[in-house]
Amino acid sequence: MNRLIIVSNRVTTPSGKGEETVGGLAMALAAALREYSGLWFGWSGKTVTEFNGHMNLQRVEGVTTATIDLEEADLSEYYNGYANKTLWPLFHYRQDLTAYDRSFDEGYQRVNRRFAETLRPLIEPDDLVWIHDYHLIPLAFELRKLGVKNRIGFFLHIPWPAHQLITTLPRHKELVEALFAYDLVGFQTPEYQQAFEEYVLNEADGVITADGLLRAFGRPLRTGAFPIGIDAKEFAELASSPRAQRTYDVMAAHTAFRQMIVGVDRLDYSKGMEERFLGFERLLSDHPDLRREVLFLQIAPLSRESVEAYQEIRARLDALSGRINGEYADIDWNPVRYVNRNYRRDELAGVYRAAKVALVTPSRDGMNLVAKEFVAAQNPNDPGVLVLSRFAGAANQLHEALIVNPNSPEEIAEALNRALSMPLAERIERWRALFDNVQREDVTAWRDAFVNALAATRSGDHARS
Ligand code: G6P
Repeated sequence: MNRLIIVSNRVTTPSGKGEETVGGLAMALAAALREYSGLWFGWSGKTVTEFNGHMNLQRVEGVTTATIDLEEADLSEYYNGYANKTLWPLFHYRQDLTAYDRSFDEGYQRVNRRFAETLRPLIEPDDLVWIHDYHLIPLAFELRKLGVKNRIGFFLHIPWPAHQLITTLPRHKELVEALFAYDLVGFQTPEYQQAFEEYVLNEADGVITADGLLRAFGRPLRTGAFPIGIDAKEFAELASSPRAQRTYDVMAAHTAFRQMIVGVDRLDYSKGMEERFLGFERLLSDHPDLRREVLFLQIAPLSRESVEAYQEIRARLDALSGRINGEYADIDWNPVRYVNRNYRRDELAGVYRAAKVALVTPSRDGMNLVAKEFVAAQNPNDPGVLVLSRFAGAANQLHEALIVNPNSPEEIAEALNRALSMPLAERIERWRALFDNVQREDVTAWRDAFVNALAATRSGDHARS
């Protein structure tokens, strides 16, 4: 078996015991790596005055990590700049929030070069290199310049935007050309894969060859859809762990057995939280009988706080939750409980299990693993209901959820009302189908499908072309 090198901007060292507060992506990568003797390379999350290429090596629970520190300027031009002020909003269809700043682009290239130069000496001839997400699109291109001939794959965790949107980016062609330095590029859904193909066919004189490869910029490239999953078994077990049970009991006592609706998201404008709050408000105004019977818990840990758009959405959500509580709260009931802190994964599993409904309503989302974790955490004899945005990649698989348009507070309110009154038999039937999918298309299936497809690409295509 080839050794696997995983590269992502953020690297965490999970214990595998449910203690961590990290999101689904980091957990998925850790789970993927544990099976292979491999290495996880990325940014340490720290800054230094001057970049020194020094690597911090660590071995935790069978996963070796190698991380590097970056400079302040790297942070502002690469992470807080091109990655999170340009690519993230644009790829989530928020052209209004997209910054088109030249220095960001330069910083992005510089950091990718730094990643390549530091990683290069660690790569051995038979290693498979698997690079993750929008921070690192040009990394293979930089590695090729340093003579790396290994098979290199890329997986995009966020949406690939429609053809017309990506063309608003200055030098969009260079960004796409950089993807042709990979052997395999994977997307979350067939829709994103098709949007990419459409770009290549229309903007880069690309063709699809007889063996299904995309050919452009003088190179062949295999693409595919690989929907990411969770470790469903592990998460279901976490949901019945003592810590989850304790959280469940605390919640039950403090909600006075009211029906709880839950949302869990990084505080990000792509998560549709404003419309979700408005949808809940609408439920209260349309159904006076439900007041005092329900409460909405929104857990939203702060994220990317140096970026203005995140400060703005935070202020709007503060105001909105305050307004709804001001309007509807009683001396012994607060309709909205809005919490900005992070929870351990086993505690979250307990929260999911205590909830009657989960509201997962992003305006755009590559996949959304909260939806899958909520399903995995349910009690099979009394499962909660998932309300899911049609614009989350997960809607492509989780058909038995109540699918809504996240832009419409009315639709959200209607789906909530339906979920809260759904008979047990229907809840069980829907949940079984959902859980079946979450279990079948889990993180192992995702990893194996991608790694096998990467290993099957013809080695040496890059050496030849
Ligand atoms: C999304 C991205 C990941 C990122 C995560 C957390 O899931 O696809 O690449 O790591 O958000 O965001 P952060 O900026 O804190 O790494």
